[in-house]
Amino acid sequence: MKKTLTIGMFHVTRARPTWRTPGFDGPDFTDIEYWTDLAKACEANGADFLFLADSYGYPTADDQVIPNAIERDVNFSTIDPQMLISALAAVTEHIGLVTTVSTMVESPPVVTRQFRTLDHLSRGRVGWNIVTGSAQAASALLFGEPLMAHADRYAKAADHVELSLKLWEGSWEPDAWKRDAATGVWADPTKVHEVEHDGPYFQSTGLLVTPPSPQVTPTLFQAGASEAGRDLAARYAEAVFLAAESKALADQISDIRRRAVEYGRGPDALRCLIAGTFRVADTMEQAVAEYEEAIAAVSLEEAATLYSYFTGIDLLALDPDKPIPSAAASGDNGRTNVERFLGPSAPTVREVLEEFRANGVMGKPFLGSAVEVADQAEAMIEETGADGFLVQPDPDGRNDRFFAEVMPELRRRGLIKESLVGTTLREHFFGEGQRTLPDSHPGARFRRSRVTV
Ligand SMILES: Cc1cc2nc3c(=O)[nH]c(=O)nc-3n(C[C@H](O)[C@H](O)[C@H](O)COP(=O)(O)O)c2cc1C
Repeated sequence: MKKTLTIGMFHVTRARPTWRTPGFDGPDFTDIEYWTDLAKACEANGADFLFLADSYGYPTADDQVIPNAIERDVNFSTIDPQMLISALAAVTEHIGLVTTVSTMVESPPVVTRQFRTLDHLSRGRVGWNIVTGSAQAASALLFGEPLMAHADRYAKAADHVELSLKLWEGSWEPDAWKRDAATGVWADPTKVHEVEHDGPYFQSTGLLVTPPSPQVTPTLFQAGASEAGRDLAARYAEAVFLAAESKALADQISDIRRRAVEYGRGPDALRCLIAGTFRVADTMEQAVAEYEEAIAAVSLEEAATLYSYFTGIDLLALDPDKPIPSAAASGDNGRTNVERFLGPSAPTVREVLEEFRANGVMGKPFLGSAVEVADQAEAMIEETGADGFLVQPDPDGRNDRFFAEVMPELRRRGLIKESLVGTTLREHFFGEGQRTLPDSHPGARFRRSRVTV
């Protein structure tokens, strides 16, 4: 039987490249209708979820913002996606709504209250993408903290998630919220508990006052494919975002599933989702021509700024004909896009720049007619063992051709569902009735009593 694929739509709350088109006066990324229309379109076309990426960071070199990032808006201006989610929840009914909060930015009492609120307002459709965060150099400066060592950032992330799970799962027993007008009891004090946490980074004694939401804990995502990132995903995440070439993806996915088994969760505890760019045209020739035109529109300087955003490494300061030297490659910024270009067949700095100019962090696009891109996507799933795609926006940000041609083609092939399963995001992934974390998830050990429905 064919695997049923999960389809998520990726967006960053920044301007689309169309802002560069002379005379363009379409809705702007600061306009709420831009986002509500987008969420409605994603839902109408059958996507499982819409993901809004986020970071406080921006491209820096030597601890200063790169002027080219400001001038060309290279991973620069954004609005806060978390603020948008409740508006998107109000105009949609089924689609999952996922956003990122870095474990370096907000503390667990804040994160747990925000996501629980959103889980109520969306009736159980919210997901948290757990990251240590891109552009850490900028973020650390902005928050007035020293750049923390990479391994320590991930240790802090694990401590953050532990306390967050305690607050979500441990504060309220499932039947604690009474709202009983006859007795005047709001909640049973014997079933609402203060949790204790004395971790290496977070200490807390207290509880989450917001009553349990449909999913209790939002569906947990993770992104960041360094070894420490893969381990964090295997331990806690229910879905993971990955971007690389097919062989590297296959290795990452089997490594994450192996680690998930070691954590007692099973190989299918996570949906492994590939960040895929679909460049759909009438023919392959046309798709290739449009792709080449898009690459030509990006300067190598912009590509270097983008690379610096993810890694803190200034490629323009390095020898273009040699691989990234190990001294530069050992920094404490994001590791995924450093480790990608190391090893015996490491590309030269020039080749890394060309790769970033063409594909950024996302790997090569699927190119051609709807049938051709569906063939390529299907082959990618077989080669990597992934569970679906996080579809990147096309240049106008609307994915019109993906929705109109590729989704129906995937549906015709029996690769995607006719309609979403269940009402919560977790059910969309794991089946009807699976609204809360499964017992095999580490969060389940913080429950004081089990739901017996
Ligand atoms: C599809 C995809 C989406 C991502 N979304 C975010 C995001 O919204 N915010 C963020 O800080 N990092 C995001 N990341 C991860 C960063 O690129 C970066 O790898 C991570 O935050 C740092 O961890 P690392 O050191 O393990 O690479 C995403 C990665 C992928 C592949």
